[in-house]
Amino acid sequence: MLVDGQARVSCVTPARRVSGRTVTTLDGLDPEVRTAWAEAFCATGGSQCGFCTPGIVVRFAGLRAGADYAGIPDRDRAARALHAHLCRCTGWQTVLEAWEAYGLAPPVDSDRGPATRRATLEGRTSQAVGPEVVLGRGGFAADTVPEGSLVAVPDGRGGWAMGDTPAAARQVAGKVPGRRTPAAAIPPLDVPDGDWDAEIRTSWVEPAYLETDASWCVPGGEPASPLANGGAFGAKLGSEAPAAARSLADEHGCPVVVLVSREDSVRTGAKRPPVAGGARADGTGRLRVVRTPGIAEAVAAVAPGLKVEEVDVPGPPTSANLRAAGWAEAVVLLTGAGAMAPGQPVVSPDGAEATAVVDHDAIRVTVRCGEPLDEVVLRSYCIGAAHMAWSWITSEGLSVDDDGVVHDLTVRSFGIVRATETPTITVEVVADDGLPVNGSDAVFAAVAAATWCHRGCPPELPTG
Ligand code: FES
Repeated sequence: MLVDGQARVSCVTPARRVSGRTVTTLDGLDPEVRTAWAEAFCATGGSQCGFCTPGIVVRFAGLRAGADYAGIPDRDRAARALHAHLCRCTGWQTVLEAWEAYGLAPPVDSDRGPATRRATLEGRTSQAVGPEVVLGRGGFAADTVPEGSLVAVPDGRGGWAMGDTPAAARQVAGKVPGRRTPAAAIPPLDVPDGDWDAEIRTSWVEPAYLETDASWCVPGGEPASPLANGGAFGAKLGSEAPAAARSLADEHGCPVVVLVSREDSVRTGAKRPPVAGGARADGTGRLRVVRTPGIAEAVAAVAPGLKVEEVDVPGPPTSANLRAAGWAEAVVLLTGAGAMAPGQPVVSPDGAEATAVVDHDAIRVTVRCGEPLDEVVLRSYCIGAAHMAWSWITSEGLSVDDDGVVHDLTVRSFGIVRATETPTITVEVVADDGLPVNGSDAVFAAVAAATWCHRGCPPELPTG
């Protein structure tokens, strides 16, 4: 929102602080300005789930309307302005391209079918594309709650605290908000003994999706999907919100919305499982992984020479549904060991192929994943995946203590690389008229391997 024309982050601004001042939200912008921003974001693919986009649009609109704006779209200035925001999907670059495309983009094509199909393949769940997503109408469950719904939030003891409003429910839960911690993310597993050409250890990694985990249900009805316009990189597939909304609505005889805060998701939601492994140049090796259903199969799909050993370790739940979980780690390790040549195409279990070349200020990607359907959308997801891979290898981790308790609890805690620190990412889509398949996961694995090699294959992630 804009407060007297200055951008402020509304989720941390109490109403009393803006008393008597002029507040402008997205819906208060001039309709022509809103449309122009929607066209700019659609032209570049700068919005995917769309959860972060309305706030960014308002900040950009305020920046352009500011007294010191000289009419030249200064990309560095826009990148710095994004420090107050977090976009997990796009990897920033297409957002900055939208900043530059403002007022120059064509009207949005009314046939969004191919774009929607490509977005759904890349997000692995139903995903809308278009101006309404950019302008905050993505259809998230928390935005469509029936009036008069009771609110349920996790009570921290495995149950639900209820109230008439989110604040009342949170008061019943009586939880103290968590903070970030200075404690480092320590990989919990040791590399198996062996004579290895490369070794790697990783810690838990938070998927860090932004859209809250929410579902509502009327008595006897079907719960609203928490996946409304974002797959959360696979993390919400195991969400407990829909089942809880259904059973609480039936129990109380009225509509109930279940709201799982981001902090609760960080405490109890699925993480990328930590690994510790060693591999040889002939493609053989051993990979220890925190016990995770489906992870051994995921690794075997790309690295049949790696013997997987699952280990029980206290910690948050893990999931093989998270983007390329297990098999990307295997590709990284095998590339470091010399079993896969740098630049060699990574073939995903879906059959997509990607290559990546990484240096200190640029990531160059090629992707072949069947008919592109919509190159803007495909490029957007590939850039987002490249950013996520770079960020994971160089910077991300989650502090978990020996008892398995998560200590990094704010969205700023996970080490997600910011816009000003992200290398330029180029994507070449290789012509292919085959059946379209997900391409961004192959890009994620290829960029992760190339980034690790670029950093000299240090045995612990993140590399710094
Ligand atoms: Fe920015 Fe999803 S589009 S968080």
